[in-house]
Amino acid sequence: MNRLNDFLLPPAKSTTAAEVDALFNFINLVSIFLLLGITIAMIYFVIKYRRRSEDDVTPLIHHINWLEITWSVIPLLLVLIVFGWGYKGYTDLRTTPDDAYQVRVVANSWFWEFHYENGHVSIDELYVPAERPVELVMRSSDVIHSFYVPDFRVKHDVIPNRYTSVWFEVKEPGESVVFCTEYCGFAHSDMYATVYALEQNEFDDWLAAAGSDLDDLPPAERGQVLVDRYGCTTCHSTDGSTLQGPSFQDNFGQNRELTDGSTVVVDENFIRESILEPSAKIAAGYPDIMQSFAGSLSDEDIDGIIEYIKTLE
Ligand code: CUA
Repeated sequence: MNRLNDFLLPPAKSTTAAEVDALFNFINLVSIFLLLGITIAMIYFVIKYRRRSEDDVTPLIHHINWLEITWSVIPLLLVLIVFGWGYKGYTDLRTTPDDAYQVRVVANSWFWEFHYENGHVSIDELYVPAERPVELVMRSSDVIHSFYVPDFRVKHDVIPNRYTSVWFEVKEPGESVVFCTEYCGFAHSDMYATVYALEQNEFDDWLAAAGSDLDDLPPAERGQVLVDRYGCTTCHSTDGSTLQGPSFQDNFGQNRELTDGSTVVVDENFIRESILEPSAKIAAGYPDIMQSFAGSLSDEDIDGIIEYIKTLE
């Protein structure tokens, strides 16, 4: 059964996954059993009671009490089992253990931000301690996304203007994939992240090292870290090549033509506006697809990114 489970489903890496799988397999097995039983009986009856001659007449058939009660009560019991089992699993998944370690999650089009207790933010990489309950308190900065880790059997919508949460406990250190599983626009299919479950002491070391990164850096280096972290280079190259958006190289101080035919100088204010309100001015020849980073980047972060772009001459 375990090997069949591993063949049919992703590895069960959380403490609650086995129970989800058990119910899933129960429903599947009952469905397969009923499908086969009903189909075989149907084919058998079609052949056995087929019309044999032109004057065959259907006999008058009365109902049989015991048979009708049996085929009503058995399905009733089956759905009650599925309800009870599912309700227990649902409450287990909705009841966060008191000692859960909390990470805040912000979903954006189209990346995941993970905020930790010491202020550190990681993008598209979620670090959690293994063998300990972890609670994610989630919100969206724009549209509806959905947080889904198949290995943990955990899925929940992430929506604007309201917090939602999920919890899980990873059984042992390892990596798993997070998918966005609610269609959220252009790059929905690129919106995935990795969960790294670490031993508690390794997690503590990672968090201590990660926490001290940004504020100690000179602005341009801080900008470079942020540009990497937020995946800006997916659309803006740093070597002059053309991607979805204008390259950052040889950009600062240049004139740039816009879609409305006017021209702007790429200066501090233009970059700031482009980060916070990307649709305000669109460079000619490029699509209007960038999402706002308002609320994700602080003023110091934006200063850093401007200084970094200045260095790319
Ligand atoms: Cu976010 Cu799909």
